Amino acid sequence: TVYTASTTAPVNIATLKYWGKRDANLNLPTNSSISVTLAQDDLRTLTSAATSESFEKDTLWLNGKEESLTNKRTQDCLQDLRGLRNQLESQDASLPKMSQWRLHIVSENNFPTAAGLASSAAGFAALVVAVAKLYKLPQDMSELSRIARKGSGSACRSLFGGYVAWEMGEAEDGLDSMAVQVLPQEAWPEMKAAILVVSDVKKDTPSTQGMQLTVATSDLFKERITSIVPKRFVEMKEAIENRDFPRFAEMTMKDSNSFHATCLDSYPPIFYINDTSKKVIRLVHSINAFFNETIVAYTFDAGPNAVLYYLEKNEEKLFAFLYKLLHQVKGWEPKYNKEQLNGFI
Ligand code: DP6
Repeated sequence: TVYTASTTAPVNIATLKYWGKRDANLNLPTNSSISVTLAQDDLRTLTSAATSESFEKDTLWLNGKEESLTNKRTQDCLQDLRGLRNQLESQDASLPKMSQWRLHIVSENNFPTAAGLASSAAGFAALVVAVAKLYKLPQDMSELSRIARKGSGSACRSLFGGYVAWEMGEAEDGLDSMAVQVLPQEAWPEMKAAILVVSDVKKDTPSTQGMQLTVATSDLFKERITSIVPKRFVEMKEAIENRDFPRFAEMTMKDSNSFHATCLDSYPPIFYINDTSKKVIRLVHSINAFFNETIVAYTFDAGPNAVLYYLEKNEEKLFAFLYKLLHQVKGWEPKYNKEQLNGFI
């Protein structure tokens, strides 16, 4: 018999950034973070897992290519899942001994790598949930998020849709470092996200390496994790619960800037945003100034591509600016005053 199970997991983009580990082995963070998960079907990983007594080795196919399953992070996740399955089997002798069998895993992203999105978050989330389903584990999503976290920190937030918090926890074994849902997407459905692909070149410094360097060398980073982020974590959750877009947007932009400032403050410095990203930043502030209201927010992960958040009702007026102005980004010197912008809408 071959047993199978499938699931999808969405890409998530942090609006309060995870940057820094207090334990690199367990992926325990130095601060709590928040993300907004894009609509489940837009950008996601679809993973199917199969197991059978007759399988000879663990195998993984990623976007149609066979990949090694020996990577430590994947092994850590599978070991935890097998451990939980083993507990079930020892309680009920009639269960097939899947914990001893090999796994075949097939995983596919529906977004091009060119979108410059980290696929590891959705990938590990889908892997953990697919195998948990296959094993019929009773653990809830928050409990499973602890396992996905070991694959990639940000993956723990992709087990939920909507607005998600990853509580950093303080236990040394990481048992209290997991994701919880702040609000389901349906509770604030007007929120929309757009990705502005500035470059599809692979990122400069991988995030694992980058955050280690920041923790080790940046003085600004200490300030960020002790006095800035803890307060912002509480306030951003509040803004989401109150569906307060201007507040949410302001904190999202400030946190992206704070994160990139700690990258610049690392030694040697790390640059993720480029000149085009900076033009997008200026443009967003100009649009908000023009409307005299915060209608759009940007955020940048470990790369130059912008993710914009806005409310659906503002989509048309926002895109009127974006299309006209981004069009001319090459050699374009932004000088924003109301008169100039007026011509664009
Ligand atoms: C900038 O989750 O990719 O996207 O835990 O080492 O796998 P590892 O790092 P990863 O880092 C994500 C960093 C970020 C911010 C975020 O998603 O919160």
